[in-house]
Amino acid sequence: MRHEWSSQLTFILAAVGSAVGLGNIWKFPYITGEYGGGVFILAYLFCICLIGLPIMLAEISLGRRGKQSPVNTMLQLSQEAGANPAWSLLGWSGMVAGCLILSYYSVIAGEVMAYSFRASSGMFNHQTADGIKGIYTSLVSDPEKLLAWHTIFMSLTVLSVAKGVRGGLEKTVTFLMPALLVLLIILVLYARTTGGFEQAIDFMFTPDTDKFFYARNDLGNYLMDANGDKIFTWEPMMVAMGHAFFTLSLGMGAIMMYGSYLNRHVSIGKMTLIIVSLDTLVALLAGLAIFPLVFANGLNPAAGPGLIFETLPLAFGNMTDGALIGTFFFVLLFFAALSSAISLIEPSVAWLIESKGLRRIKATVWVGTVVWFIGIGTIFSFSGTTLQDIFQPLFSWVGFEHIELSQTFSKYNFFTAIDFFTASIMLPIGGLLIAVFAGWVMHQDSTEREFSFRSRHVYPVWQFMVRYVSPFLVLMVFLNIIGIFKF
Ligand code: PFF
Repeated sequence: MRHEWSSQLTFILAAVGSAVGLGNIWKFPYITGEYGGGVFILAYLFCICLIGLPIMLAEISLGRRGKQSPVNTMLQLSQEAGANPAWSLLGWSGMVAGCLILSYYSVIAGEVMAYSFRASSGMFNHQTADGIKGIYTSLVSDPEKLLAWHTIFMSLTVLSVAKGVRGGLEKTVTFLMPALLVLLIILVLYARTTGGFEQAIDFMFTPDTDKFFYARNDLGNYLMDANGDKIFTWEPMMVAMGHAFFTLSLGMGAIMMYGSYLNRHVSIGKMTLIIVSLDTLVALLAGLAIFPLVFANGLNPAAGPGLIFETLPLAFGNMTDGALIGTFFFVLLFFAALSSAISLIEPSVAWLIESKGLRRIKATVWVGTVVWFIGIGTIFSFSGTTLQDIFQPLFSWVGFEHIELSQTFSKYNFFTAIDFFTASIMLPIGGLLIAVFAGWVMHQDSTEREFSFRSRHVYPVWQFMVRYVSPFLVLMVFLNIIGIFKF
């Protein structure tokens, strides 16, 4: 018999384990910094409530009804609803997105592992902001070191998944998630003493629409068109929406997969609320721990993916028992990343087991190896290789050396391109299709039975959200991007 979570609590912990990860603590602060703070956070919270919540409910219930990997769940549910089997493409795009995301996730998680050793060796003690920045630069500009850490992290992910989702995950998450939360609170309390707290609150919670809606260059200066007007951009909105999907692990079948191990008698509504609230709480706490340090030390909030590695060590270097607390922090963050990595790879592994008859170990090693290879692209991005550097030799090779990448693309490297393509395009499209499937394609009595909400009023609200509100909002953002209409 197919196994199920041992209790409702374990499902919550596993889903929170998937949701809470590098997205909350590494990515959320740096994209908030890059896109100007206040309005970005508002846009993100808006997307969490109006898009994330209803789609998470939909994804869990599809998974629980299908009881298989996302590809086969979608095949079965489309058959049940008399719909086109092409809906299983949703599962396929989820598997691809999961592998692409994991490819760079593992490189960053490798950096986190490297930092737990650096913290424990006392390397951060009494360093200046420049000294801390130097430690980060020397790590990311050394491809061999990054490759070694990436390899270690991928091996640990493969090992954990090979043991079966319940084996390692349940125990890990039960203790480590609460510990991470406590440590973040300690860091926020420390951040209050640094003198940058008020500026941080101002940055995070005071809306500044210009910084959000108008394009700026790397130095933070506004770009101007020929008439000297600022240039309007939808990119931050797209990143905010994409991050809502990313942080909740939605749109690629990870949560669907976890829903498939869920017992019939559990109420999904309450659990979804708990998962979403905890995830949001962790992200906001991470912001409150990091931005005061940024302002107190005169750092740039838009420093990019290195932000946590260039700020938190400053705190650890200056607080009593900083080496111990710093080590704890990076070790816990590593476990949070591992529990998310497991959910990124599980849909592909489960599909190989179900449909190709592979043993779990073999399936995991296969997927892990593919992901490991793709991750090498991200390692080179950190040492400065851009998309232009990758494409130019290819163009020359086929005799088109005069072709250059357009300005929009030349600012990307392999890592930023994959991140943008997966989080801001693939996950929202996946989520949109999940909403349409749950709202329009599935028979109403099957979704109603899946939910069995205690209150009679919740189902119609959810249905209205997945039928109209969430798809409409996702579509609006996309249509604006491709310039079909503007408002
Ligand atoms: N939610 C994870 C994080 O915030 O770090 C990342 C993630 C996990 C994204 C699983 C997507 C996913 F399916």
